[in-house]
Amino acid sequence: MSLSSFVAQLPKCEQHLHIEGTLTAERRWKCAHANKIELPGCNSLEDLKKQYLTEYLYEEGQDATKYLQEFLEVYYASMNVLLTEDDFYNMALDYIKVAQSQNIRYLEAFFDPQAHTSRGVKFETVMEGLLKAQKEAADYNVQLHWVLCIVRDMSAESGLDIVKQAEPYKDKIIALGLDSDEHDNPPSKFQDAFLLARSYGWKITAHCDVDQKNTHEHIKYVVKELAGSRPEFKKHELDNPDLYLLPKFTTGADRIDHGMNTADTTELLDLVKAANLGLTLCPMGYQKHLGPHNVFPKVTKIYNYGIPVTLNSDDPAYLVYSKTGTLLGVADGCKLTAKDLYNFEKNAIRMAWTSDIEFKRKF
Ligand code: HPA
Ligand code: ZN
Repeated sequence: MSLSSFVAQLPKCEQHLHIEGTLTAERRWKCAHANKIELPGCNSLEDLKKQYLTEYLYEEGQDATKYLQEFLEVYYASMNVLLTEDDFYNMALDYIKVAQSQNIRYLEAFFDPQAHTSRGVKFETVMEGLLKAQKEAADYNVQLHWVLCIVRDMSAESGLDIVKQAEPYKDKIIALGLDSDEHDNPPSKFQDAFLLARSYGWKITAHCDVDQKNTHEHIKYVVKELAGSRPEFKKHELDNPDLYLLPKFTTGADRIDHGMNTADTTELLDLVKAANLGLTLCPMGYQKHLGPHNVFPKVTKIYNYGIPVTLNSDDPAYLVYSKTGTLLGVADGCKLTAKDLYNFEKNAIRMAWTSDIEFKRKF
């Protein structure tokens, strides 16, 4: 069997996926038309599609901070067409269908409510649209959970406020995450919001994006301090014979999104491994921009160190690579076999936050 046939039939999970990063040109065009919103410089769907083809290509010495900031500018501006419950529902349903077509059976997806409430959209409008899609995901053989993300370049007060607004939905959201521009926006800025999220019983995760300022400090803080100090590990908690029951740590994060700079020092590799944290890597967008030689060796190092990692598409409408394309691209870049790709998906289901243990065991 070819590697691409193997990947096509492999049941997959995706745990680093921004639902707003799945907003296709077609959906954006329809929403803009329905909501009477002008798309500057676009007289047709074809014009709009061309805007999506902006390439973030590798140049020697590229600055990852600038890349992230440039991407985020386009990314947040594109969301202005999302206004109604149906817009959020349709965007999410579009991706559920994509997931089904790629045999993605388990999905934890981020959403950025502040990017919408700051434009005058009600938090409830966003939530009700997303929850309607979540209910229908089962019809497509996809188990879906929502991860609310704080937009970290907004204020600490705004971050705390959005978590407070989410209280009526606390049983319908699985985790709190942290995304957007990391530059001078450390995870410690949102400690109060993360503490509140823990009190809701949510899981905790945060982006530690690639090659950002103070990334090593951010990784350490997320592992040791986010949502409260991590206690000493008891060895037996880590040696759980049931692969599908992760130890329950009530403080520190439960996962890191990206976290690729963990590969930079033995101290960080040991720390993340001892904490038994998984990393949700998204290597394909970054390798395009930073160069494969600055990305794939780090993925290999983390994987070989025995840290659970998963491979994800991040923002597939913009970064082009799908979940399937990511698995194949990383297999090529890191010289991986079908067995390795199977291991990545095994890690992913092990790291999944569903309480449906039977689903995990049968996966
Ligand atoms: N990093 C930070 N913020 C984001 C990303 C990302 O990779 N994708 C969408 N928002
Ligand atoms: Zn991301």
